Amino acid sequence: MLIVANWKSYVEKRDEAKKLLALSKRLSAKSRRTKIVLAPSFAHLGVLAPGNRSKVKFAAQDLSTTTVGPATGEVSGATLRNLGAEYVIIGHSERRAIGETDTVIAEKAKRAVANGLIPILCIGEKERDADAHYLLTLKKQLHAVFEPLAPRDRLRVIVAYEPVWAIGKHAGDALASSDLREMVLYIRKALSEYLPGKSAKVAPVIYGGSVEPSNIRGLAGGSDIDGFLVGHASVDPVPFAALVKALG
Ligand code: PGA
Repeated sequence: MLIVANWKSYVEKRDEAKKLLALSKRLSAKSRRTKIVLAPSFAHLGVLAPGNRSKVKFAAQDLSTTTVGPATGEVSGATLRNLGAEYVIIGHSERRAIGETDTVIAEKAKRAVANGLIPILCIGEKERDADAHYLLTLKKQLHAVFEPLAPRDRLRVIVAYEPVWAIGKHAGDALASSDLREMVLYIRKALSEYLPGKSAKVAPVIYGGSVEPSNIRGLAGGSDIDGFLVGHASVDPVPFAALVKALG
């Protein structure tokens, strides 16, 4: 199981970031099944990731579509890779909400794989409708990124299903575990258009949206999910430790 701790902009102090890394190291040393990937801010990535030799891995929360050159304020894939990031979150709904389009996200996926980073592609509907039109939203978001990628690079993408309506709330507002199973099946089926049959069936899919200690086990059980993208519960040591321990 993969746990991606998306710190968003919650962690503002270097000491706090260091403590969360130390905790993650202790937790991952004890856990046989769970791999922890921390996604700090760019600034904290620069503090924590260089020289990291632990089982804990690092993700950036975003990357630029630009490469080396005159691009003020942008952080390129190469910079992230050089710092020690191995993954990068792309297309998070909080970035889509400030205008990031599918086209930009597709470009970011390309930049990620070109720099040896594993893209964690966030997809998710804003709301659900009785006629299941929201499924088309997911299909469109997947198509935008997978279609232009080279077949070999498509195999590198981890899909994070994050229904926007479930983000930043509480366990009771998360997706029901029975629905999660259906969504994982749906996403893998949609991916069969871009991946060879066998690979689509086992394509890595993780879930995000109000994952907390009280619901993580239920969501994991029987849903065939490969892990979780955790926001608010990943920046508080007590629930974060409980989350990791719950997965064993
Ligand atoms: P949340 O955030 O766990 O706070 O709902 C998840 C995410 O947005 O990645």
